[in-house]
Amino acid sequence: MKVKELRATFLSFMEEKGHVIVPSSPLVPENDPTTLFTGSGMQPMLPYLLGQPHPSGKRVADSQKAFRSQDIEEVGDNRHTTFFEMIGNWSFGDYFKEEQITWMWDFLVSKLKLDPENFYLTCFIGNDSLGVPRDTYSAELWQAFFKKKGIDVGIGENPEKDGIRTINGVRDHIFYYSEKKNWWSRTGAPANMPIGEPGGPDTEMFYDFHPELGRSCIPNTPFSGEFCHVNCDCGRFVEIGNNVFMQYKKTAQGFEELPQMNVDHGSGLERICAAVNDDGDVFNIDIFENAKKTIENLSGKAYTGEAQYAFRVILDHIRAATFLISDGVLPGNKDQSYFVRRLIRRAVRFARNLDIHTNFCAEVADSFIQVYKDEYTNLETNKDVILGEITKEEEKFRKTLENGMKEFEKAIIEIHKSVNGETKEIIRHLSGRIAFDLLQSYGFPIELTEELAKERNIIVDREEFEKHKKEHSDQSRTASAGKFKGGLGGDGEMEVKFHTATHLLHQALREVLGEHVLQKGSNITPERLRFDFSHDAKMTDEEKKKVENLINSKIAADLPVTREEVSFEEAKARGAIGLFEDKYSDVVSIYRIGEGTKRGDSNLYSIEFCGGPHVERLGVLGTFKIQKEEAVSAGVRRIKAVLI
Ligand code: ALA
Repeated sequence: MKVKELRATFLSFMEEKGHVIVPSSPLVPENDPTTLFTGSGMQPMLPYLLGQPHPSGKRVADSQKAFRSQDIEEVGDNRHTTFFEMIGNWSFGDYFKEEQITWMWDFLVSKLKLDPENFYLTCFIGNDSLGVPRDTYSAELWQAFFKKKGIDVGIGENPEKDGIRTINGVRDHIFYYSEKKNWWSRTGAPANMPIGEPGGPDTEMFYDFHPELGRSCIPNTPFSGEFCHVNCDCGRFVEIGNNVFMQYKKTAQGFEELPQMNVDHGSGLERICAAVNDDGDVFNIDIFENAKKTIENLSGKAYTGEAQYAFRVILDHIRAATFLISDGVLPGNKDQSYFVRRLIRRAVRFARNLDIHTNFCAEVADSFIQVYKDEYTNLETNKDVILGEITKEEEKFRKTLENGMKEFEKAIIEIHKSVNGETKEIIRHLSGRIAFDLLQSYGFPIELTEELAKERNIIVDREEFEKHKKEHSDQSRTASAGKFKGGLGGDGEMEVKFHTATHLLHQALREVLGEHVLQKGSNITPERLRFDFSHDAKMTDEEKKKVENLINSKIAADLPVTREEVSFEEAKARGAIGLFEDKYSDVVSIYRIGEGTKRGDSNLYSIEFCGGPHVERLGVLGTFKIQKEEAVSAGVRRIKAVLI
């Protein structure tokens, strides 16, 4: 089956069921500053799910362009794409579970002839503390449809543990999962939802591309486990769609029912097409054929074996960039633009693996424009801009790519971790300054440097990179919240100790030198900590001694270290300090040293914004000793210290 036919089949199916077909919204949300991209069909429907009447009525369906930026680095396997089309339908307080499940079965099994033997479902297990019951209705309705086809199926739990069971010839095809899997909102599971956000339990649909494997995974993937199950990542089972029963709203107390019971269904058009064709490689569907041939001609390589990974990255990224530019997002340094830049640069980088060293992106983009221009007419209208912008970005990057790669290889240093003079471990390390140079001089987005590093088992000093970036520019947009791990290269035991010692040092410096002292940067290796702070005079020996003594007295008192998650406001109110305040989200993690809860409590020593990890009690740290104190720049001093 071809994508075009499948899209039209879905829309006319839903039209027959009383839905009005609406056009896709743009990839950049029009009235939603909370998110950069439209990542699901539901986003443009938000006001109507909350109760505002939709101009087309209570039943609406579409095929929505979607871009999921968080999936960029997942691309390369058989099923992940950043751009995709989501076919969806909505009930705004009209029909509910019965109709939705019936139609999904009719559409997938009766109309598209998907083999029910390969069709699997998951449903919500229920949670008393959320006040949301187990969705037995959905599970049993799905089961009844199998039965009508003459197939007895079981309803199971925990397939991770035992694999998918077959008891007396009856195989489990339906599974209950907790809110970690079977709950959908724009921000994920209930715990991650802000107050006012709508969400609800869902029933997800999966296709088994390799029933011949019995209970086993596809062998030798990084995710292959003892038993395969629908939510396994080995690639055998692929989620093709999701039906959300959008009926709750988060409140300060928990959940309340929305004024209306909604259905929000979204399925991956490309994935359903792959399922109908019973071919687990989503890049084998027809819409990629044209562009694939273009890459084959340019590289002289076929889409097989090891080359597949690079092919997939290029196919996905150039298709996404084509649609994004068409929707007005040009490559650049900020917000949405930065993702277009990353997509193109990543495609160019992977093309090297196929021995493509000259401009090629526009040709691939044009192959996609030819395929999609009837449905998305603005691709043709904007063709010159799309091809021009892609080429410009490619040229810019190509000029520096080879030199940047050389610089990267040259800059790797090896840190020998030794015990009693014997090397126990070698850590390959790339400094944050080099990562910043690669960005400044060679246009390597930090994510690209990190990815290159990961492939070669190298740790990049991300915090030092951020420090340099902040110093040089205010456009610190790459440092997305949650990426900070408190300056740790790894979670080794020594690093954790140094991390806790860093908090002690921060506080001790403020006591000895004054409250103007604030952390400006931190870097930890298994051998030492390094701490940069605001202060404009050389520390005297006496001051250094005072700081050491203070810290060692806290260690001797074996104070407890406690982590808490609180709202950003509360953390501020309790006097938490920290370097990256502007990048934190609503809920933050703080670490306290001592028993008290807020700054000023006599039995609290330190309170900081921090993701951890830390030791549980100070006693394990040993003795703190300053090795060096020096200037780094005007008004910023640096201390190197060890624990002995
Ligand atoms: N909004 C639901 C999803 O994206 C259908 O999975």
